[in-house]
Amino acid sequence: MSRINLKDLCISSMAALTVLMSLCIRECNPMPDPHQRELMLKQDMSQQVGGRVELTAAELQLDSLLHQLKLKEMAASPFPPSKHFFKVRHIVQKSPVFKLLQKMPKGAALHIHSSAMVSVDWLVMNATYRPHCYICFTWDGSVQFLFSTNTPFLRWGCSFWKRLDVLRASLSDITAFDNSLMRNLTLFTEDPEMSYPTQDAVWDKFEKTFMALSGLITYAPVFKDYIYQGLKELYEDNIMYLELRLGQSKAYELDGTTHDRAWSLEVYRNTTEQFRANHPDFIGSRLIFSVHRSLSVSQVKQAVQEAIEMQRKYPDIIAGFDLVGREDTGRSIWYFRDALSLPSEIKTQLPFFFHAGETDLDGTDVDRNVLDALLFNTSRIGHGFALVHHPLAKQLSRTRGVAVELCPISNQVLKLVSDLRNHPAAVLMSDGHPIVVSSDDPTLFGTTGLSYDFYQVFVGIGGLSANLGTLKELAMNSIRYSSLSPQLQDKAITIWKEKWNKFVAENS
Ligand SMILES: *[C@@H]1O[C@H](CO)[C@@H](O)[C@H](O)[C@H]1NC(C)=O
Ligand SMILES: *[C@@H]1O[C@H](CO)[C@@H](O)[C@H](O)[C@H]1NC(C)=O
Ligand SMILES: *[C@@H]1O[C@H](CO)[C@@H](O)[C@H](O)[C@H]1NC(C)=O
Ligand SMILES: *[C@@H]1O[C@H](CO)[C@@H](O)[C@H](O)[C@H]1NC(C)=O
Ligand SMILES: [Zn+2]
Repeated sequence: MSRINLKDLCISSMAALTVLMSLCIRECNPMPDPHQRELMLKQDMSQQVGGRVELTAAELQLDSLLHQLKLKEMAASPFPPSKHFFKVRHIVQKSPVFKLLQKMPKGAALHIHSSAMVSVDWLVMNATYRPHCYICFTWDGSVQFLFSTNTPFLRWGCSFWKRLDVLRASLSDITAFDNSLMRNLTLFTEDPEMSYPTQDAVWDKFEKTFMALSGLITYAPVFKDYIYQGLKELYEDNIMYLELRLGQSKAYELDGTTHDRAWSLEVYRNTTEQFRANHPDFIGSRLIFSVHRSLSVSQVKQAVQEAIEMQRKYPDIIAGFDLVGREDTGRSIWYFRDALSLPSEIKTQLPFFFHAGETDLDGTDVDRNVLDALLFNTSRIGHGFALVHHPLAKQLSRTRGVAVELCPISNQVLKLVSDLRNHPAAVLMSDGHPIVVSSDDPTLFGTTGLSYDFYQVFVGIGGLSANLGTLKELAMNSIRYSSLSPQLQDKAITIWKEKWNKFVAENS
């Protein structure tokens, strides 16, 4: 490579200057200058997420402790981030790094779906033990639930409903039965490679599980407690704010009557307020209206319209709009361009929070979702697994401050990457890209809170270069890239800083 080319490539950057200087040194002296090397390494490190965060003496102490612990973890076998999460969850749970991450104030969870936000234990041990709960076993080996005063009619391919309390009374091993219900309501299994040999297989079970969950969590009395439980699990993992993707299903009562969307939003608001009254350091929670990408353009248009109406009615809790469902087999953002242009056509603001680039199909229509999401001025990018394949989209995301919502365990379980050290976000992290960490569907992946995903990001994707500065920036990012107003962000940052300082003081 000639010097001229190098110069043209990155004329204005400090990095180019350093490289040119080192080239000269190489020409004049066969041994590279160690001082120059030191400078280059520093410069390289300073570009990563958290690379410019100044750490206090106490923070440096905690940082060095974390570094030592991480070294030990990396030397151990198996190294958890390199294996399927389901196989190593029990090892992660015992990890000292993980235990510190649990205590760490992590800020906000910005990418979680309302249909999979609580632990499966609560669903089985609490929700299915309520009176009037009916179950049916479907022909494809799954289950459906319905709360009803009388035996339900045929629906969802169910020809035969049993009341759960009656069924349980007839069983000799109730624990084994409850465990089998848990397996129906989560993807978690000891042998994931065998159970899910392909992306199609795992997505098939993924969609099926959502259907099994639906009858359980949309029962009105369960729905209220479910939201409260979801907030509680996040709070116990030291998370102070939530942006939840809310699906379209409607809540129902024992007699089969259903509630409209406004009812769900009010319950949501009321429950959050109740939770906040009991936990004053919890900031709150907002909703992102989400519709499935298998719908038609006119259906999505209707949903956009409804989102605009609800936003007018409940401006404090509606954050925006998203399209969900598998991108590879679903319709692209561009396909819905008519529906998605509606807000700007009628001169309203409806922020978008698109899932985009949750794919490894480089060069397809689906793969273009990241660029299209940015064309529609998305506020954040859900997953953005394909972002590094698109330099322009990557640059726009960075310059516009459109953060990538990184959900590593989700990407691994849904078979985009197996060894998390090879996750493309490693490139984004070393480049200081705006990133927030989230958990996507905790019920399905056998997690609660964000600590598991933070563990994978900190130990696996970030490698040994990720440090306490990285964690600090990721936590602050989650507040800065939220949909909260600047005033509320400042308030949240103040509360977070207090918690952070306490965490550092207690653990350094
Ligand atoms: C389920 O949890 C709620 C509170 O969240 C509690 O009031 C209720 O008693 C529990 N029900 C069962 C069956 O455990
Ligand atoms: C779901 O639960 C039923 C009832 O216990 C059980 O027969 C079936 O094997 C379970 N399905 C899975 C995928 O575990
Ligand atoms: C929410 O709370 C308000 C005020 O307490 C109450 O009037 C309303 O009925 C509640 N909404 C629902 C759906 O429970
Ligand atoms: C996106 O933002 C740009 C610049 O503010 C604006 O010109 C454009 O109309 C917006 N596009 C949409 C689809 O909202
Ligand atoms: Zn998602």
